[in-house]
Amino acid sequence: MPERDRGLSVASLSVRFGGIAALEGVDLVVDPGEIVGLVGPNGAGKTTLINCAGGQLVQSSGSVSLGGESLDGLPPFRRARRGVARTFQRIAVFPELTVREHLFIAARARRRSGARWSELVDRGRPDTDESDEIAATLELVGLADRADAAVATLPLGACRLVELGRALIGRPTVVLADEPSSGLDARERATLATVLRTLPAQGIGVLLVEHDLPLVSLVCDRVVVLHLGRVIAEGPFQAVMADPAVRRAYLGQVA
Ligand SMILES: Nc1ncnc2c1ncn2[C@@H]1O[C@H](COP(=O)(O)OP(=O)(O)O)[C@@H](O)[C@H]1O
Ligand SMILES: [Mg+2]
Repeated sequence: MPERDRGLSVASLSVRFGGIAALEGVDLVVDPGEIVGLVGPNGAGKTTLINCAGGQLVQSSGSVSLGGESLDGLPPFRRARRGVARTFQRIAVFPELTVREHLFIAARARRRSGARWSELVDRGRPDTDESDEIAATLELVGLADRADAAVATLPLGACRLVELGRALIGRPTVVLADEPSSGLDARERATLATVLRTLPAQGIGVLLVEHDLPLVSLVCDRVVVLHLGRVIAEGPFQAVMADPAVRRAYLGQVA
């Protein structure tokens, strides 16, 4: 695949926090329409990698690009406009706003150049394009019947889908999802898996950070394992999980 057609590319990424190397020379690619699982024990550097890709954190060295163009130095909202969206490990929603309002704000923020908060919320109603996009996204994440419910009234699983829906507004090239199944019950996980599996057909790539390995095995095309800031294995789920280095890394966490 030529570089310009590729999705997210992380090259030789290193991050140091004082004396700790949270990431060390990490390479990773997520192509459009591909779901890549990023797994590894606690403290492996998964959130740090997502933060560097999303622009919430500046790496110590290495680079992040999308479609062959560097994202380095761009703030999160500019990366979002280029096609990199994300969700957060700790849910970040506004309790009083409805599902539809969350998507409206996201749609407007993605399109308007003056991204001041007042311009986003002070105004009015979605235009036709925004309404269409909101309706399509509500369908996509299965929240059409709860569109006008305040998020505070929804169970956690639905809140996570609101976050995912917000990330999907504008049809990003890649979504960075940081533990989207955390706190969900079995039914909510199944819904999440169903939604994730619809994304590749729309050309959306996903970098899925997840502790729930059955979910990873169900939805991911490929898995990358991080341990102590380095990639220790990558490939199809079964092969990677059978790798002795991966088994040792996970055992180390339990011991
Ligand atoms: N802001 C920070 N300051 C100092 N150390 C940090 C910071 N964020 C993460 N770390 C450290 O970097 C390492 C990787 O953390 P993180 O990316 O959160 O791991 P994961 O998401 O895989 O559990 C850990 O050792 C963690 O303690
Ligand atoms: Mg994390």
